[in-house]
Amino acid sequence: MKALVYRGPGQKALEERPMPVIAAATDATVRITRTTICGTDLHILKGDVPDVAPGTILGHEGVGVVEQVGGAVSTFKPGDAVLISCITSCGKCEYCRKGMYSHCTTGGWILGHLIDGTQAEYVRIAHADTSLYPIPAGTDEEALVMLSDILPTGFECGVLNGQVQPGNTVAIVGSGPIGLAALMTAQLYSPAQIIMVDVNENRLAVAKTFGATALVNSGNEDPVAAVMKLTDGKGVDTSIEAVGIPATYSICEAIVAAGGRIANVGVHGHKVDLHLERLWSHNIALTTRLVDTVTTPMLLKTVVSGKLLPQQLITHHFTLDQVMAAYETFGNAALTKALKVIIRP
Ligand SMILES: NC(=O)c1ccc[n+]([C@@H]2O[C@H](COP(=O)([O-])OP(=O)(O)OC[C@H]3O[C@@H](n4cnc5c(N)ncnc54)[C@H](O)[C@@H]3O)[C@@H](O)[C@H]2O)c1
Ligand SMILES: [Zn+2]
Ligand SMILES: [Zn+2]
Repeated sequence: MKALVYRGPGQKALEERPMPVIAAATDATVRITRTTICGTDLHILKGDVPDVAPGTILGHEGVGVVEQVGGAVSTFKPGDAVLISCITSCGKCEYCRKGMYSHCTTGGWILGHLIDGTQAEYVRIAHADTSLYPIPAGTDEEALVMLSDILPTGFECGVLNGQVQPGNTVAIVGSGPIGLAALMTAQLYSPAQIIMVDVNENRLAVAKTFGATALVNSGNEDPVAAVMKLTDGKGVDTSIEAVGIPATYSICEAIVAAGGRIANVGVHGHKVDLHLERLWSHNIALTTRLVDTVTTPMLLKTVVSGKLLPQQLITHHFTLDQVMAAYETFGNAALTKALKVIIRP
C-alpha cells in the first residue's frame, strides 16, 4: 500500500509499505477513505515531537471502512463505516475509567506518533471497540474527518477547560483549524464576546463568518492593548492558546481577567515564561490538556444533526498520490488560504 512516511526532521516520503495486519485480538484494520493533515504533523516535521521514530507513517485523523477485525472485537465487522479517533483508548485502564483516554496506558495519542498512522491506504487500529465510532448512514463523511481531532480538541482543551459560560468574554489566540473549532464549539455556551487573534488576515476573515465578535491582527497591532480596549480594560474570562509558541502563550497570560482561565491547547516545543509575580493575586487558573476525545459521541450528534457544520473548515482536496502538494498547501496557509485539506487514497 502507499503511505506517507516520516523520515526525520524536515523529511517525509510517499512510500510503498506492507499492508497492516491484525496483531492483537482487539485490533481492526481500516481502509482509509479520507484523511487530513494536522498542525501537529507540521510540529512533528519541525522536530518538535522527538519521540516520533523515522519510518513511522504520519496522520492521526480519518474515516474509513473496516477491513478485518481481531477475534475479540465485538462492536465492528468488516464493511462498517467508521470514524477513527486520534486517541486510542482501551476503555479499561485507570485513566480510561476516569475519562482521560489521552493517558490510556496502552493507547493515548499513538497513531502517527508511536505507531503507524492514517496518511495511508490502510491503518491498524488498536482497541478497535473503544477507539472507532460507527458512522450513521447518510452522514457527510468529510465533515466527520473534523471529529477525529480538531473538534474535540478545540472543545475539550479550549472550551471545556476554559469553562466558557453564557455572557462571558473569550479570546482565542490562533485562528487555525483548532482555534476555529474552539470558536465554533464555544458558541454552544453563548459567550457574549469572542475575540479572535491571528496574524493571518484570511483566517481572521473566516473567523468572522464563524461568529467571532471582534478580530485582532497581532501582526499589525499590539494584541494585548487591543483586547484590553475591547473589554473595558478588564481582560477576558477565558483566553485560549491555539498556536503553541511562547509569544502567543504570553498574549493569553497578559489578557486574562481577574478570576479568569487560561486554557492552553497548543503543542509547545519550547519553554515559556510564567509571570507569577503578577498572577499570584489574580485568582486565575491555567489548564493544559491532551485531547481525550471523550466528547466525540456528543459532537458526532451535533454534526449529524447539522447543529455544527465543521465541513466549512475544508478548503482543499487531494489524492494520496498528491500528498506532498497537500503538505505544501497546508504548510503555506498564508498564501494558499488553506484550513483543512482532505486527502483521499
Ligand atoms: N492539545 C492537544 O491535544 C492538541 C491537539 C491537536 C492540535 N494541537 C495543537 O494546537 C495548535 C493549533 O493547531 P492548528 O492545526 O490550528 O495549527 P495551525 O498551525 O494551522 O494554526 C496556528 C495559527 O496560529 C497563527 N499564528 C502563528 N503565529 C502567531 C502569532 N505570533 N500570533 C497570533 N497567531 C499566530 C497562524 O497564523 C495559524 O493561523 C498546534 O500547536 C497543534 O499542534 C493540540
Ligand atoms: Zn492533530
Ligand atoms: Zn486505557
